[in-house]
Amino acid sequence: MRGKLLYSGKAKDVYSTDNEDQILMVYKDQATALNGGRKEHIEGKGTLNCRISTLIFKYLIKNGIETHLLENVSDSEQLVKKTELIPIEVVLRNKIAGSFARKFGLEEGKQLNPPVIEYYFKSDELDDPAINTSQIESIGIATGEELASINEKTLIINDLLKKMFDLDGLDLIDFKLEFGRIDGKIILIDEFSPDNCRLWDKKTHQSLDKDVFRKNEADLVTTYKKVLERLEGVQ
Ligand code: C5P
Repeated sequence: MRGKLLYSGKAKDVYSTDNEDQILMVYKDQATALNGGRKEHIEGKGTLNCRISTLIFKYLIKNGIETHLLENVSDSEQLVKKTELIPIEVVLRNKIAGSFARKFGLEEGKQLNPPVIEYYFKSDELDDPAINTSQIESIGIATGEELASINEKTLIINDLLKKMFDLDGLDLIDFKLEFGRIDGKIILIDEFSPDNCRLWDKKTHQSLDKDVFRKNEADLVTTYKKVLERLEGVQ
């Protein structure tokens, strides 16, 4: 099943498979912060993220969102459709937090209405610089039509996930998505886990996401386990 290593990322490795239309994503027991500047081995993280992302992708698929997920091969490996990666990180923010709070000198937690959508150019070397829709189109990263589709899908995914997390007593503050092209369509790829979103407990406002690692606030595995348990409770 596992062929050649195609790409080794911060949280996942990607392998070729016997089928040229499919690739294997292997979730790693590794956490990074400061764009890879801080790197730690964390036993059990890969499995947790794979299980959480699988639950979330299956929920999105059930609700009409096309994704690359085909099947889970093990607790930390997913067989996915091979797509042409669009090198953009799409960030949606429902409430002020993180870099948005720092950039504009704003207090965390205030509602953003409508939600903010930001784009970052995926490049470790360049530190994922912010990019706008005009730049994306003019450089040729994506067409205007594709960007409209990405925007629309991001908003629909936000509505679906806000509802799902709300049932678990979690407030979806912000998140990052990635998209790929396949058969002339744009579909959701990569993962959705506490590594790439902010989830705050609705009652205590405690972070249940990677901020616990970034800020050395709590144990990452214990925190991610709580998220998985809450998700499993309602699925
Ligand atoms: O750091 P910032 O506030 O810009 O992050 C916004 C959201 O995007 C957070 O949920 C964060 O986890 C996610 N993100 C990510 N990958 C990045 C940058 C941000 O998943 N490279």
